[in-house]
Amino acid sequence: MDSGLAPSGRPGMTEPLEPGPVPRFHSPMFRTFRGGQSGGWRVTSIAPVTGEPLPFVPALSVTDSEAVSLPLVPSRNAWRLVGVASSLRYTERAEKEQLMAVQAGLGRVEATSAALIPIRKSQAWWDLTQEERRKIFEDKSHHIASSMRFLPAIARQLYHCRDLGEPFDFLTWFEFAPAHASRFEELVGMLRRTEEWSYVEREVDVRVVKEVLSA
Ligand code: HEM
Repeated sequence: MDSGLAPSGRPGMTEPLEPGPVPRFHSPMFRTFRGGQSGGWRVTSIAPVTGEPLPFVPALSVTDSEAVSLPLVPSRNAWRLVGVASSLRYTERAEKEQLMAVQAGLGRVEATSAALIPIRKSQAWWDLTQEERRKIFEDKSHHIASSMRFLPAIARQLYHCRDLGEPFDFLTWFEFAPAHASRFEELVGMLRRTEEWSYVEREVDVRVVKEVLSA
């Protein structure tokens, strides 16, 4: 049957109803952290740092997908948090180059310990301008400069979720070898004492270890 559409390949004519690839929809855009009964990571602790806690669950799964249905409705024994690895907001060129030269990627075999730290900042933070936030984040709190020495031992990835209407603004994820566990404590302890952290109104610290599959 004639579709009414012009044959494809003719200049200036519409292609049949096949959408072209939309970059952000054709590669997994969303990372979902699901706390529940099963997953590749075993939960060792879930500690509320500031504000409302998350319920304890025995396992954490981490998956990527092209789409998610929002809002994610929490249940009593499971939770799902979703975020997007986004563009950099505060990092300047020299810092970016320094980070790229030393940082390690996720998924190293020896990095069998990890932390998921979801964070929400206060309205007072979001009421500041980008420039004012950068001042607090780096000029006063030295978030990047002081954290640099923990690389490459600690591998990290930041996910944004404020604009998804999620209960947190950020999902922060860190992977490290068990031998570097105390360095990670030093890092989080240091950041939590900064001026930047006075704007954190909800923070939960989820610690996990890689589930080893027995034959
Ligand atoms: C391994 C050492 C770390 C390094 C090198 C590091 C580096 C960075 C960098 C470069 C940014 C800015 C991204 C941008 O330009 O938008 C950032 C943002 C952020 N980091 Fe870290 N970080 C580290 C550890 C941590 C830890 C341990 C936490 C949580 C306990 C954390 C929480 C955050 C949060 C919440 C943001 C977003 C801030 C905002 O946009 O308001 N970071 N980090």
